[in-house]
Amino acid sequence: MLVLGIESSCDETSVAIVRDGKEVLANVINTQIKIHEKFGGVVPEVASRHHVYQITMVFEEAFKVANVKPEDIDLVAVTEGPGLIGSLLVGVNAAKTFALMYNKPIIGVHHLAGHIYANAIEHEMKFPCIALLVSGGNTELIYMKDHFKFEILGETLDDAVGEAYDKVARVVGLPYPGGPHVDRLAHLGHDTYKLPRVYLEDGSYNFSFSGLKSAVINLAHNAEQRGETIDKNNLCASFQDSVTEVLVRKTLALAKEKNVNNIIVAGGVSANKGLKERFEREAKGFNVCIPSIKYCTDNAAMIAVAGFYQHMVYPNEYADMSLNATASLELEERYEN
Ligand code: KG4
Repeated sequence: MLVLGIESSCDETSVAIVRDGKEVLANVINTQIKIHEKFGGVVPEVASRHHVYQITMVFEEAFKVANVKPEDIDLVAVTEGPGLIGSLLVGVNAAKTFALMYNKPIIGVHHLAGHIYANAIEHEMKFPCIALLVSGGNTELIYMKDHFKFEILGETLDDAVGEAYDKVARVVGLPYPGGPHVDRLAHLGHDTYKLPRVYLEDGSYNFSFSGLKSAVINLAHNAEQRGETIDKNNLCASFQDSVTEVLVRKTLALAKEKNVNNIIVAGGVSANKGLKERFEREAKGFNVCIPSIKYCTDNAAMIAVAGFYQHMVYPNEYADMSLNATASLELEERYEN
């Protein structure tokens, strides 16, 4: 089965062609990072305009790279939400145009299901499993008893991890998106600042990162007022140590409580080397899957793969030409179990 995947929920225009949910024939990604860098974050209006400029060329490139014809496609899978509404609309309308032109079935895919299923490209997804989803907009612990059965058991009460990374990066003068830069500096320093680890007293599997972020900001500002220089490498290492400790320990605690051996890490922050290293150190005896970096951040291959499995679980659920983009879309509500 040849699935055409389309992703445009934020600042990446991407089109992929994937065979049988596994073999990535093409995964073309046009990123807008350079454009948004000067603003220190994604400007939604600029992002949607750029998707409009790029989408046709990204489509053409994907078919060229995959060396297949539009007629060969069996299913069109497009990110329907959540995300920036103007950006999502470009992908959804491109997907509908393609489906109408070539008379192909079309389905809408949840963006976070895409991140989770990025793991199915290089690994075999085993169930039941716990998925730790960490991106610029989300931090969630999800219990999956089978394909497309999502139960959210923990989430952030304030900032998403990626968001905290990007803000900390800004404070220490690193470019957007800050996550990879903080990760790089963290590996050059040590945990000397001993920042708080927030475990929440309610014993839940929820997260909170705003206190940690404020601690970094205050530390940097106080040092500036006293005319002292902070050691950026050590500050990044301290921040990363605090974040990864909480993420890994909560994930393992939930896995133990649920008696689950399989752990999946997904979303942009799953590209973090410190997180991977801590899982390697602390998750002995668990089967931990993390996608390779190219499938961690937004890309259409993950949407095509998620589309493939979604179609297996919901074989008769096709969208029609009324398919719309949805800025806020809950994973559990989209796929009611
Ligand atoms: O999943 P993603 O591409 O976009 C969505 O949010 O949907 O994630 C982007 C986020 C950004 O906040 C970026 O700073 C973060 O992922 N990120 C990282 C790393 N690579 C990307 N955070 C920490 N360490 C990294 N190596």
